[in-house]
Amino acid sequence: MKFSALVSGLMALAPLASAAELAKRATLTQVNNFGSNPSGVRMYIYVPEKLQTNPPILTAIHYCTGTANAFYTGTPYARLADQYGFIVIYPESPNDGGCWDVSQGYPDPQRRANSNSIANMVTYTIAQYKADPDRVFLAGTSSGAMMTNVMAATYPDLFKAGSAYAGVPAGCFYTGTVAGWNSSCANGQSITTQSAWAQTALNMYPGYSGPRPKMQIWHGSADTTIYPQNFQETLKQWAGVFGYTYGQPQQTINGNPSSEFTKYVYGPNLVGYYGAGVTHNIAINGAADMEWFTGIKGVTGGSTTTSSAVPTSTTTKASSTSTSSRTSSAPTSGPTGCTAARWGQCAGIGYSGCTTCASPYKCTYSNDWYSQCL
Ligand SMILES: *[C@@H]1O[C@H](CO)[C@@H](O)[C@H](O)[C@H]1NC(C)=O
Repeated sequence: MKFSALVSGLMALAPLASAAELAKRATLTQVNNFGSNPSGVRMYIYVPEKLQTNPPILTAIHYCTGTANAFYTGTPYARLADQYGFIVIYPESPNDGGCWDVSQGYPDPQRRANSNSIANMVTYTIAQYKADPDRVFLAGTSSGAMMTNVMAATYPDLFKAGSAYAGVPAGCFYTGTVAGWNSSCANGQSITTQSAWAQTALNMYPGYSGPRPKMQIWHGSADTTIYPQNFQETLKQWAGVFGYTYGQPQQTINGNPSSEFTKYVYGPNLVGYYGAGVTHNIAINGAADMEWFTGIKGVTGGSTTTSSAVPTSTTTKASSTSTSSRTSSAPTSGPTGCTAARWGQCAGIGYSGCTTCASPYKCTYSNDWYSQCL
């Protein structure tokens, strides 16, 4: 009798014991044993009070000198997690200077280094919280955006969508060291073709032919830390991976999601946002990310599939070009009597905004696709 009481007591305790291993709710909490972690990345997790069943996961990756706590407090993701009931993983860099290892060679070292530790945090969280593997997302700023592109290329099987703010293409930051600084990449001088960039990404997981995360790329024209050319190079990379044509976005929408941004829609798997006058201190757009991460807000009516990134309506100033067969590289003529501000776009394929620059700036050719008031 005592024995059976003990047994039933233990059984009653069992769920509590496993619950005790989970992180305290609504508090940024460090997780120590999440799996293999030879490179020593620290894992922090934020689990909101109200959680969806089989919750989505967002992996939010900080910038150089950043910390998990800085990214937790300085970005909208934890508040959005409270609102929608998803889990946020905040990895923290173990490297001097707090940058991510996006500089080692590939493919193999990337799968063993910081990126591997982050992947292990995701699989740990899926198991511990019965999270939905079809709703796993990633986002990052600067070095974290570089890592977002590396993770998308290295673990395409793990993530469904990514959002990268002011980063570089996967593989662009190569130095052959753990956390080196590649100036030619940072300064926008690592320029190559769509197919070369795509191959760099594909080489990070040789032989993989399954689905890949759709990518949303953000950059500011006034970024002097990670030069804006990296916006073009990153779009080339993912355009190549997804079979789009870099120079031919399906839609170009001015003033979206706010007046300084132009949105380039390549198709359901790739969107770019270019901010005129926006510096490296680019703000994370939580609302746009929530739209991009299909199903992160919860499953309503059982439909989490088939999102189209092509907007059905656009905001004011929207002037969409909808054909995908344009081949002309002649700059379009813009509205008369309007001037583009310093850093603003003034010409390029698919561009239909102002073509005159505010004095004393000159419309300066960057490529067929983009000229800027400098
Ligand atoms: C920097 O990266 C580029 C590719 O983006 C590469 O060609 C170059 O060799 C790298 N520089 C160093 C110092 O490793």
